[in-house]
Amino acid sequence: MPPLLEELASLIEEVRNDAKSAATPNELAQVKARALGGKGFLKSALSGIKDVPSEERKAYGQQLNALKNEFEEFFKRRAAEIDAAAKAEAEFFDSGLPGMRVQMGRLHPIRAAMRNIVDIFVSMGFDVFTGPEMEYEKYNFDLLNIPEYHPARDDMDTFYILPGLVLRTHTSPVQVRVMEKIKAREDVIVQMISPGRVFRRDRPDATHTPCFHQLEGLQVGRGISMANMRWILDEFARRFFGPETRTRLRPDYFPFVEPGAELAVTCSMCEGKGCRVCKETGWIEVMGCGMVHPQVLRNVNIDPDEYSGWAFGFGVERMAQVLYQVPDARMFFENDMRFLRQFS
Ligand code: DAH
Repeated sequence: MPPLLEELASLIEEVRNDAKSAATPNELAQVKARALGGKGFLKSALSGIKDVPSEERKAYGQQLNALKNEFEEFFKRRAAEIDAAAKAEAEFFDSGLPGMRVQMGRLHPIRAAMRNIVDIFVSMGFDVFTGPEMEYEKYNFDLLNIPEYHPARDDMDTFYILPGLVLRTHTSPVQVRVMEKIKAREDVIVQMISPGRVFRRDRPDATHTPCFHQLEGLQVGRGISMANMRWILDEFARRFFGPETRTRLRPDYFPFVEPGAELAVTCSMCEGKGCRVCKETGWIEVMGCGMVHPQVLRNVNIDPDEYSGWAFGFGVERMAQVLYQVPDARMFFENDMRFLRQFS
């Protein structure tokens, strides 16, 4: 320390130390002002120069200037250091932090149920066919023995696209399309299922949505009877709903089957004892089925005197509602992740 600056020594020391411990540009600027600012001690030392004896004045001025320059350099360096430290902190990568959780996608419960159902029937030797979602009235109604002006058409409120063209109201037209194509030559000539989307002009509520999924099944051959139907549907019910499941057939009407039936399964909530879910009956109706109507066979040039068949159709949402006890079918379409995540 040049002797003339000795009286500033403690101030200089203090500013240096404070500048070293300043952590932000703002803190540093405040320290810098104490030395170099308008009211800083260097400024007042410079303005006090006139009181210094003239023979010392020059040396003192030089020392002050040197100090000022040195301080300026020093603060520049400190600013750069603070800057670098801030950058390093911003870029800091903590390899010990737990990683971000990756959300795995999964099948929608309806898609999963459909695959499950398809697998069960495929394992029993059924082939899978699909048909168009926009369908001719001919296939959706006429060839299924639902003629125009027949009251049975009112059972399904239909979206009409063009004259003769509808959004299919069920997957049953696929049976007709498949039967139309086959040539009757072997004993069992058709053993098929057809999953897919169907559409009805229904007001959405707990059991209706304007678009939903169905699965259709059909077996045609020589000597096929209702016993074949019963066995296969029983097997399906046990594999889909659980091994204790029993089934019940009751007469029902569908224009394309005769006799027609409705299949119910034992309520899995109460095991058939009767509860709120099955409305105290112990049974839950899950599908329509029956022996293919002779007229439907004739419509596709299959001789009903030689061949017979049975068919079934059900709503996949309904099946999933029963299996998972989902109170409202609309939940399958709302895509609320909190709901969907429950099915893995
Ligand atoms: N297609 C009928 C519906 O949508 C369900 C159905 C009932 C299909 C009986 C069939 C059947 O194949 O035999 O309500």
